[in-house]
Amino acid sequence: MTKAAVIFDLDGVIVSTDDCHYKAWKRLADEEGIYFDKEINHRLRGVSRMESLAIVLERANRPYTMEEQQALADRKNAYYRELIQELTPEHILPGVRPLLERLKQHGIKIAIGSSSKNSPLILERLGLADEFDAVVDGNAIKNSKPHPEVFLRAAEKLGVPAAQCVVVEDADAGVEAALAAGMRVIGVGTAASNERATWTVASLADLSWEDLAKFLAAV
Ligand code: BG6
Ligand code: MG
Repeated sequence: MTKAAVIFDLDGVIVSTDDCHYKAWKRLADEEGIYFDKEINHRLRGVSRMESLAIVLERANRPYTMEEQQALADRKNAYYRELIQELTPEHILPGVRPLLERLKQHGIKIAIGSSSKNSPLILERLGLADEFDAVVDGNAIKNSKPHPEVFLRAAEKLGVPAAQCVVVEDADAGVEAALAAGMRVIGVGTAASNERATWTVASLADLSWEDLAKFLAAV
């Protein structure tokens, strides 16, 4: 069939960790007396930890030194890791497993392209550590989404030209990163309303294999 490959974002596509990120940032912000809400949290989607911290600190009433910022990021990450320890394979989002199986049956390569440095832990907790042909995450990149680096690295690792890769993303920054990489992008979840996405579906559970096969074949 097609020579296409599919690169999945992790947070918000394979598993819903948004609430864990929100709770960890909220705990940190409350302790520091910094205003933080779900709308601000939405801006952190797809964005690296340090860039996320910079957004959180926009509401701080004093400047933080680089050392303090590193300590805050580490503290948030410790809170976050406590929360994601609770993840199990049952937290894999609906539609993900059958989709991965279909793609494998058809010999279509699959990868993870995530800004998160916690990707290895999350994949392990979900029982998906060995499911992907390539994993590129926040540990391997210099520039986080909307920069295309993570997706270009994933394509390179898969040995598939960027133009033949399709990205599945839930974040606006991720949609831009995929487009900047010259890839087509399926927007899911919160990116289902993103008009820049090539194709949108509310949930991967709503994706018909026939439609997806046609979409991949057109790459
Ligand atoms: C992305 C999330 O996947 O990873 C962002 O959408 C998060 O919200 C980023 O900030 C970095 O995550 P981590 O786990 O490296 O702090
Ligand atoms: Mg995401």
